[in-house]
Amino acid sequence: MQGDRILVLDFGGQQALSTAQRLRSIRVFSQVLPGSASLETIRAAMPKGIVLAGGDAAQEPLPLDCALLDMGIPVLATGASARRMAEVLGGQTHGVSIDRRTAQISFGASPLFSGLEESDRYFDRVEELLLPEGMKPIANSSAGLTPAFSNEEKRLYGLQFYAESNDPDGLAILRNFALDICQCDPWWTMEEFVERKTQKLRQQIGDGNVLMAISGGVDSSVSAALLARAVGDRLTCLFVDTGLLRKGEVELVERAYREQLSIRLVRVDARQRVLAQLSGVTAPEEKRRRIENTLFQVLQEQAAALGGAAFTADGAIYPDMLAKANLAKTGADNHVLHPLQHLFKAEVRLAGEVLQVPREMISRQPFPGPGLAIRIMGEVTENKLTMLREADAIFRQEIAEAGLDKRIWQYFAILTGLHSFGTRDGQTCYETAVALRAVSSSDAVTANAYRLPYDLLERVALRITTEIPGINRVLYDVTGKPSAMIEWE
Ligand code: XMP
Repeated sequence: MQGDRILVLDFGGQQALSTAQRLRSIRVFSQVLPGSASLETIRAAMPKGIVLAGGDAAQEPLPLDCALLDMGIPVLATGASARRMAEVLGGQTHGVSIDRRTAQISFGASPLFSGLEESDRYFDRVEELLLPEGMKPIANSSAGLTPAFSNEEKRLYGLQFYAESNDPDGLAILRNFALDICQCDPWWTMEEFVERKTQKLRQQIGDGNVLMAISGGVDSSVSAALLARAVGDRLTCLFVDTGLLRKGEVELVERAYREQLSIRLVRVDARQRVLAQLSGVTAPEEKRRRIENTLFQVLQEQAAALGGAAFTADGAIYPDMLAKANLAKTGADNHVLHPLQHLFKAEVRLAGEVLQVPREMISRQPFPGPGLAIRIMGEVTENKLTMLREADAIFRQEIAEAGLDKRIWQYFAILTGLHSFGTRDGQTCYETAVALRAVSSSDAVTANAYRLPYDLLERVALRITTEIPGINRVLYDVTGKPSAMIEWE
């Protein structure tokens, strides 16, 4: 049985994803489709309501089909899509009247605004509108403009501001829309998701076997835990030790899967093979390519050696699926399972808690697929990997001891490839420099260097240079993203 849902049509920008996440946070299941989705696709999703989101940066008129507004399904359009909705219904816009400034808004008697009081807010853009027939203003601004309008009979609502981000009443507006206007049942909790998904996976898999390659990261671990809940030991996880993981990581993953999650785990030692592939390679892109290819080959061989399986699975999450524009193809290959394909990152962690995935697995910092290889500038060798692993472990240990590990998005060491003079055991030495990086971020799209306590930095520098031969200098990377990426390569 399909639960109630709100469709969010994405006309460009971040608004669609933010809207979907905010709806989910009030337990309303929401799904994002491209703004160009056909009426047929939209109808097939059987939404209780539709949100039109984004499009502010679009050059072309947004591809909004008038028929969508005539389906009898409530529609909430925000920002540029609200103006477009007015236009396709026969209204007109007359240029910008408020551009990035604060104004007072007072709400009219629409169910969309029930419980809200007039207040000041920041408007990105409000245009003068000649409303189409049937549409009436439902809010006024101190500048005498119409920031919101509706056709209550047809349940069409336009907001010239965003309900999905930075709006003090945004969540209340979305709640009024979804729960009262659309009468959507707020069934979406992670307990419910886990229960429904388990049943669905059991149906899909039948008495087949599932083979899944795991990285030990949050997504693959929660995905594997969900599959294990559904099919028990008919799930086999393949874990390739590339030699590019952090200190203690292989053991941590093995323990969590085998002992805590009781998942059948096959560990493949590909350390020498990966190193051989990386020998003499210095270009970052080439390193990534070779690691990826080797991993792929190893997995193919192992899958064949295990006699194959009826299904394979991955840990792809909602933004991954949207980014790959895979959504339309979902279900096309019935033999590849994506148990987390509808979840946002925050939801994956919550689902992990419901599934009792060990806390140390759920709260791990992001770690790139090519691992330590892209934190070693230049050629990757066994010796450099050992040095970096030790330096990184010291940094991580000190951060944990300072109680900062949960506060920092990502923190790690980089082997810079720079050499400089120093002294060791009374002798002049010419050794390598390690850089430390710690960043705050909420999505890895932008980041700021974390202001680590100076004594912590000094302590780490002292420990790294005394405990690890070959490193005589430690630098702290204070650059934000932009201009620098989080990773160095
Ligand atoms: P950048 O370096 O682009 O990183 O600022 C953004 C986030 O993505 C992670 N990252 C990767 N993750 N494979 C991954 O799975 C990769 O090749 C890769 N490169 C970067 C990075 O650690 C950060 O969290």
